[in-house]
Amino acid sequence: QELQINLEQIEKGGYDHFMLKEIYEQPSAISDTYRGRIRVAEGIIKMAGIDDNLAKLLNAKRIIVIACGTSWHAGLVAEYIFEELVRIPVEVEYASEFRYRNPVIHQDDVVIAISQSGETADTMAAIKLAKERGAFVFGVCNVVGSSISRETHAGAYTHAGPEIGVASTKAFTTQITVLSLIALKLAERKGTISNSDFHYYLQELERVPEKVKIALESNEHIKLIADKYKDAKNFLYLGRGYNFPVALEGALKLKEISYIHAEGYPAAEMKHGPIALIDEQMPVVVIATKKGHYDKVVSNIQEIKSRKGKIIGIVTEGDETVKGLADHVIEIPETIEFLTPLLTTIPLQLLSYHIAVMLDKNVDQPRNLAKSVTVE
Ligand code: AGP
Repeated sequence: QELQINLEQIEKGGYDHFMLKEIYEQPSAISDTYRGRIRVAEGIIKMAGIDDNLAKLLNAKRIIVIACGTSWHAGLVAEYIFEELVRIPVEVEYASEFRYRNPVIHQDDVVIAISQSGETADTMAAIKLAKERGAFVFGVCNVVGSSISRETHAGAYTHAGPEIGVASTKAFTTQITVLSLIALKLAERKGTISNSDFHYYLQELERVPEKVKIALESNEHIKLIADKYKDAKNFLYLGRGYNFPVALEGALKLKEISYIHAEGYPAAEMKHGPIALIDEQMPVVVIATKKGHYDKVVSNIQEIKSRKGKIIGIVTEGDETVKGLADHVIEIPETIEFLTPLLTTIPLQLLSYHIAVMLDKNVDQPRNLAKSVTVE
């Protein structure tokens, strides 16, 4: 028993929980994901699964992403990235809905299945269905040799290393990293981005791990915010564009480990319903980075403020406007728009982590949840 406890402590590497360790591993996990695949000076991305199937991917008329949970959120981020950079239409489907719906699948569709564990039953069944109907299926998995990585025609691993905490953290950011690499590679080949943009984007990607480290430095400040709102019964998370899926992911993190009800919404949808919920009891986490509909998000913040909601803004370093309106701001470094989810996610992970710890919840193994959902 004692040996078991000591072993676990060693595995946690000095952190109180696996989740916290995995949050802090993200700078190295993200660089492990692209290291060996990109050569910035030469402007090269090498990924065997893509290189070997380039024609199929470049000629895809449509990309269908299938996944569950956090992996589905990474798929939503990918939708924005692929449509922007590669100009191929993308649909993002819950694997559990896709598989039971008699979906229309064409021979020239490419299906991307995303799964940390590579064992999720619904995702697996959706892959089998897509294959039966003639689609080419590309997997994005973390666990090497997992069932999904074997079932797909080709794929790319995220190389995040083992993720033990039930709440997915580094798997999410590394999934976005791999999907960004794929989009950049296809965009460069298709000519949908210029050569100079391609080089610039690669350079910016290489700067992300350092910027994640800076984002992690807000930990103590986030702890204070967590302490203030830990007893709230509900939370709202808002974001637009690339950060809309991050809002969904932030809400999911809070729900699963702290058992506080939380909803994520595209910020503009607030006026179509959720705004009715806002009063002085409601903390609203708003992702309001400088790039990406900033002015629109600022006006959403004003709407929340006039209804006395408590605003926690995730902002770009040096932002003054939101600081003047929000109750709290958490700063992240600036980067190009499609990479912002890799940074805005960090404070949301830490916020849910600290709230769950303060509420004395089982952070690494929340009730009713399993790390991989192998049942339907
Ligand atoms: C995330 O924090 C969850 N625990 C859960 O939503 C998870 O992302 C989902 O079950 C999908 O798992 P997978 O990536 O292993 O397929």
